[in-house]
Amino acid sequence: MTVTAAPESRTAPGPARTALPRRLLMCRPEHFEVSYRINPWMDPAKPVDTALALTQWELLKETYESLGHTVDVIEPVPGLPDMVYAANGATVFDGKVLGARFRHRERTAEGPAYLDWFSRNGFEEILWPEHINEGAGDFLRVGGTVLAGSGFRTDPRAHAEAQEFFGLPVVGLTLTDPDYYHLDTALAVLSPTEVMYHPEAFTPGSREVLRRMFPRAVTATAADAAVFGLNAFSDGLNVLLPEAATGLIARLRERGFNPLGMDLTELLKGGGSVKCCTLELHGACLRGPSW
Ligand code: ARG
Repeated sequence: MTVTAAPESRTAPGPARTALPRRLLMCRPEHFEVSYRINPWMDPAKPVDTALALTQWELLKETYESLGHTVDVIEPVPGLPDMVYAANGATVFDGKVLGARFRHRERTAEGPAYLDWFSRNGFEEILWPEHINEGAGDFLRVGGTVLAGSGFRTDPRAHAEAQEFFGLPVVGLTLTDPDYYHLDTALAVLSPTEVMYHPEAFTPGSREVLRRMFPRAVTATAADAAVFGLNAFSDGLNVLLPEAATGLIARLRERGFNPLGMDLTELLKGGGSVKCCTLELHGACLRGPSW
C-alpha cells in the first residue's frame, strides 16, 4: 500500500511524497521507570507514570498501524526499563542484523535479549559486534549511505565494523552536546535524500560534512531540538515527531510532508521519544515472522 499526499495538503510545490510501508519492532514500556541516570534527561527523583507511558506508547503503535506499517513487539524484560527504546536494540539493513553492545552496564543485557528475538523470528544473518554500538540510535540510513554517530555512546571503531558487515558506505559524525547523545536525537532521516538536524549538536567538522551532503536540509531551532523534535520517524510522507516541536512541524508541512505530532512526554523522562521507541526492520519482509 502506498499513500500519496493530496496536492492541496501541500502549501508549497515540491516533490510528490510517497509513504512506503515499513516493518517495525517496538517494546511495550511495561517495566518502564527511571531508576538510574545515563543521560542528562533522566532524573530518578522525578516520578514516572508507567500507565501513562503505556497509553502514549500504544497510541504511537496504533498510529503506525493506521498508516499501513507492520509492528512486531518484543517481550519486555523486567529490570531493563530502557528496553522500550527499541531503536537501540540492533541495526537492521537489507535484512541483516548487527547486534547492539551497550556502553552502560545498566543496558548491556538488552543486546542479547534483542538478538534472541531476531534469531527466533527468521533472521539469519546476525552479527554479535566486537565494538560498542547502540544500534539504530547511532546508525541511520539515508538512501544507500549510513550516517553513524559517535561521541557519547557508539565507538567510532563500530562504524568500520558496520561498513564491513552491511557493505554500505558509513559516514561518521561526532556529537558534542550531552543532551543529544545518540545520533537519532540530533538528526532525522526524512526520505532517501533528505534529513533534518540540529547543527549545534555536532562538532564543527561534522556540521560541515552535513552541510555539504545536505545543503537544503531542514535545520532545527534549539527549542525544537530540546523537545526531541529530531527524534522523528518518517515513512517518506508521514513524519511522526513530538507534538511540542511546532517549528519543525511547520517546516515539514512546507516541504510537502505530513507531520503527525505525538505526545510521548512520559518516555521523554528517560531521554527518548518517537524514534527511540521504533526500530525499523529494513529489508525484512512485511508480514509474518518467517521470510
Ligand atoms: N535512557 C536511554 C539511554 O540513555 C534512552 C535511549 C534513547 N534512545 C535513542 N535511540 N536515542 O540510553
